[in-house]
Amino acid sequence: MKSFNGKIVIVTGSTRGIGRAIAEAYALEGANVIITGTNADKAEAAAADIAAKTGAKTIGTELHVSEAASCLSCVDKAIAAFGRIDILVNNAGITRDNLLIRMKEEDYDAVLDINLKGAFLMSKAVAKPMMKQRSGRILNISSVVGQAGQAGQANYSASKAGLIGLTKSLARELASRKILVNAIAPGFVRTAMTDALSDEAKSEINKMIPLGSPCEPEEIANAALFLTGERSSYITGQVLAVNGGMYM
Ligand SMILES: NC(=O)c1ccc[n+]([C@@H]2O[C@H](COP(=O)([O-])OP(=O)(O)OC[C@H]3O[C@@H](n4cnc5c(N)ncnc54)[C@H](O)[C@@H]3O)[C@@H](O)[C@H]2O)c1
Repeated sequence: MKSFNGKIVIVTGSTRGIGRAIAEAYALEGANVIITGTNADKAEAAAADIAAKTGAKTIGTELHVSEAASCLSCVDKAIAAFGRIDILVNNAGITRDNLLIRMKEEDYDAVLDINLKGAFLMSKAVAKPMMKQRSGRILNISSVVGQAGQAGQANYSASKAGLIGLTKSLARELASRKILVNAIAPGFVRTAMTDALSDEAKSEINKMIPLGSPCEPEEIANAALFLTGERSSYITGQVLAVNGGMYM
């Protein structure tokens, strides 16, 4: 029997990269998955592709996580189609790197709005149905940079550290309703986000990883399935580092 048979899962930012790998992993384990991205066509195409590959039921929908109305509409669509929500993965995220003195206020705001406020708005939108169900899982994708800091990423690391605080507070607040809230802090993962770095930057980062190479998105997906599955029923408010030893 597949381990997520019939579970209803929303993964934000699942048209590509880590979100896509997480969505595919749930689909392979029998879940019905809501695939979301900022572009409706891409979200629908990814959903159709994952359904064809895995046989799972999927929905593709446009979602802008920094807008409350868009978050509510995404959750409404999921409930209309499947009647409940078992798991929310807050994965959508962006970077707008620069050194502090050159960082524009709008780049600080955009990163905080999408990476941190987005997770707050989506968590708020699923909290009501999950509280009624008296069960649910919320998983936030933070980052090693939220734990260790990184020059040139003040906005991004503040957003990712903020997600850790959000995770712990929601874990305390929602525990009595049997809603478990955890986070993953990935290290350096091979995706479009990190492909944008120069070869020199990539090789410098590789030197900081004891396991010697970047993480694959599927390795983050493995941790996501563990942290939202039956085998982690007594784990809440935790941050699981999946970083090859980059930060301990
Ligand atoms: N790649 C890494 O090395 C790494 C490391 C640590 C943490 N992370 C985090 O993992 C998550 C996924 O990263 P990735 O590398 O797969 O990135 P990516 O750029 O490949 O994908 C990001 C996804 O987020 C979506 N998105 C962007 N803005 C959005 C918005 N306003 N509303 C809704 N969706 C939006 C995009 O459509 C896309 O599907 C991010 O939160 C990122 O910060 C990545």
